[in-house]
Amino acid sequence: MKKILIFGASEGGRKVTKMLRKDNVEILAYVDNDRKKVGQKIEGKEVIPPERINEFNFDYILLASMYFNEIFYQLINMGIHESKIIKIYGLNTSASKSKIKNMYNRHCLKRQEYKNIIIDEELHNVIENYFICDMNRFYNERNYDFYNYPDYILQGIDYVRLSTVELISREIRERNISGAVAELGVYKGDFSAFISKLFTDRDLFLFDTFEGFHKDDVEFEHRRGFSKSKPRHLEDTNIDLVISKLSHIDNYYIIKGYFPESTVRLKNINFAFVSIDVDLYKPTYAGLKFFYERLSKGGYILVHDYNFPTYSGVKEAVRKFCDEMGINYVPLSDYFGSAVITK
Ligand SMILES: C[S@@+](CC[C@H](N)C(=O)[O-])C[C@H]1O[C@@H](n2cnc3c(N)ncnc32)[C@H](O)[C@@H]1O
Repeated sequence: MKKILIFGASEGGRKVTKMLRKDNVEILAYVDNDRKKVGQKIEGKEVIPPERINEFNFDYILLASMYFNEIFYQLINMGIHESKIIKIYGLNTSASKSKIKNMYNRHCLKRQEYKNIIIDEELHNVIENYFICDMNRFYNERNYDFYNYPDYILQGIDYVRLSTVELISREIRERNISGAVAELGVYKGDFSAFISKLFTDRDLFLFDTFEGFHKDDVEFEHRRGFSKSKPRHLEDTNIDLVISKLSHIDNYYIIKGYFPESTVRLKNINFAFVSIDVDLYKPTYAGLKFFYERLSKGGYILVHDYNFPTYSGVKEAVRKFCDEMGINYVPLSDYFGSAVITK
């Protein structure tokens, strides 16, 4: 049994605890620089301050904090030998690098194979030019590999999407762009919760049928061959669930109903940031029309699924709207391929 200390008594420490082979490892205690955590217990083990580390006879100390570099030097300065310190985050960073390199090489090989057997010119062009960002049509992998990070802390998280919104929120704050924030297409509220956290000081408007896709939108999809969506898809949600995830206490407005009809009572609202994530052509186009007109100068609209072939109407709607308005957008390399429109 190796005796270990875990440095980091937050989410990281808990996650590392789950990763350990309990038959090989005995956790002696958790360590944290945050005095508020000292004295608390995690799975029955005490959280101690760094000064008490030397009271313990440990084999290793695992760094389960994003500040692993600073903590590493803190421990070295305390006289703890380097060989006893294991950086959980550091290890996985190099694993990520080699994984991405392997993936890149694999895709290069695949591209070569496909090129040898495919005569269709359009396919050839896609394979030649878009083999990193391309979605499932040809490789059946989408850009999935990029999102299947070995770093346990990033697994399943669309880093590009979230970090883009975080940066947008900073721009809006630092440049004093006025206006409310909104999400059209809320479903269970996970992305709304993220927006809410970043913009607690702004009014937050959340639009959804909360009954899934509307039959008129779906009929239109089928007629135009955009998607195979079904009426009421994504109806398994409710408003209370969404509200329970928000950081906003009062300045939020849940606008339930079919968009854009649900907007009739809304008057004179300007928006600084809007996420449109409704999967289908009609509400995406209607959302762009409604929100762009009301977007503050310097504001942003983020349209999810722009490059997601399963919902090809989203791209059509964005292109049509932007052509009509004489405006442009930036395609993102997030998991479902969003597009960002600014004003
Ligand atoms: C993919 S989900 C949204 C996911 C959410 N943005 C997230 O990231 O967690 C799409 C949502 O759009 C809603 N929706 C689709 N068409 C709509 C319309 N015409 N009016 C209102 N809501 C609509 C659906 O009910 C569904 O909840």
